[in-house]
Amino acid sequence: MNTPRRQGSSGTSPVLELDRVTLELGDRTILRDTSFTINQGEFIGVLGPNGAGKTTLMRSVLGLVPAANGTVRVLGEPVVRGNPSIGYMPQTRSALAGRRVRGRDFVAMAADGHRWGLPHADAKARADVDRVLELVGGSALAARPLSELSGGERQRLLLAQCLLGNPRLLLLDEPLISLDPHHQKTVVELVKRVQQELGIAVLFSAHELNPLLHALDRVLYLGNGVAALGTVDEVITKPVLSRLYGSTIDVMRVNGRIFVMSGDFDVEKHDHEHEDDDHQHGEPHGHGHSHGHAHGSKETHHHASRDGHTHDV
Ligand SMILES: Nc1ncnc2c1ncn2[C@@H]1O[C@H](COP(=O)(O)OP(=O)(O)OP(=O)(O)O)[C@@H](O)[C@H]1O
Ligand SMILES: [Mg+2]
Repeated sequence: MNTPRRQGSSGTSPVLELDRVTLELGDRTILRDTSFTINQGEFIGVLGPNGAGKTTLMRSVLGLVPAANGTVRVLGEPVVRGNPSIGYMPQTRSALAGRRVRGRDFVAMAADGHRWGLPHADAKARADVDRVLELVGGSALAARPLSELSGGERQRLLLAQCLLGNPRLLLLDEPLISLDPHHQKTVVELVKRVQQELGIAVLFSAHELNPLLHALDRVLYLGNGVAALGTVDEVITKPVLSRLYGSTIDVMRVNGRIFVMSGDFDVEKHDHEHEDDDHQHGEPHGHGHSHGHAHGSKETHHHASRDGHTHDV
């Protein structure tokens, strides 16, 4: 298993570092004393049951949830709001489906902050919109209204929005929600291609590991206030996941797919089925813990909440 380091990225330069970070929301501790490092050019699958803190972690990287303790750094600097080095696709993408706005204008709305509303951008912003549309293979969607696009096509435009301004780190929160398996595959492949082409790092949260298996370099698995970062073989194991779920988890591999089971219950499958676009903060709708993977078989139970790098096993 090796970790391709992309061209254009300087060796193992850190893009995202958590140094003994604790995240709290209200009186809940979402992440406790967690340290890890994600490097330029890495595709990280962010997994964990409903409410594990995937969205909260991304929001902390954006400077929207301050760390109660410790430091979050992006490209070596403490987080700031509105960091142009970060592209963000939020989990909540409600109401897009009904919009008549043209694809291109939709992408353009996100260009250059909110400085311009609809069609009249300056030349530089227009060129950037063209660039990102091309990058995601979305030029053909530019003239069509959002309301006429499929979920997968809208995802393409959302990804284009995230790429405006040349970010080095993409935070994609559940881009696969409400997509069928075919479109899920398309979206994963698209993100992977763009990520490799640009040599940028991606945090891609998802409810299921399997659609990401071939794309990801490492997994960041959250649960119980703990984070496990490592290769699939390192993280998707009985000891690591049992710790994250707080109960016995079995990991099974079947035909190249991985299932994470609690008893005879596929935790991932069960977890987020009822998700929809309007779901935001992992409210207690889920069954607290669930996920399903299964890769890992042998392998170190390096459990995680520490040092990022463990790529190559
Ligand atoms: N403002 C808040 N005050 C207290 N708790 C909150 C607040 N916002 C969110 N939470 C809780 O924080 C926990 C983490 O939520 P978060 O949305 O980060 O989880 P998630 O892993 O993204 O879940 P999902 O898979 O459902 O999207 C959840 O239990 C949620 O209910
Ligand atoms: Mg979430």
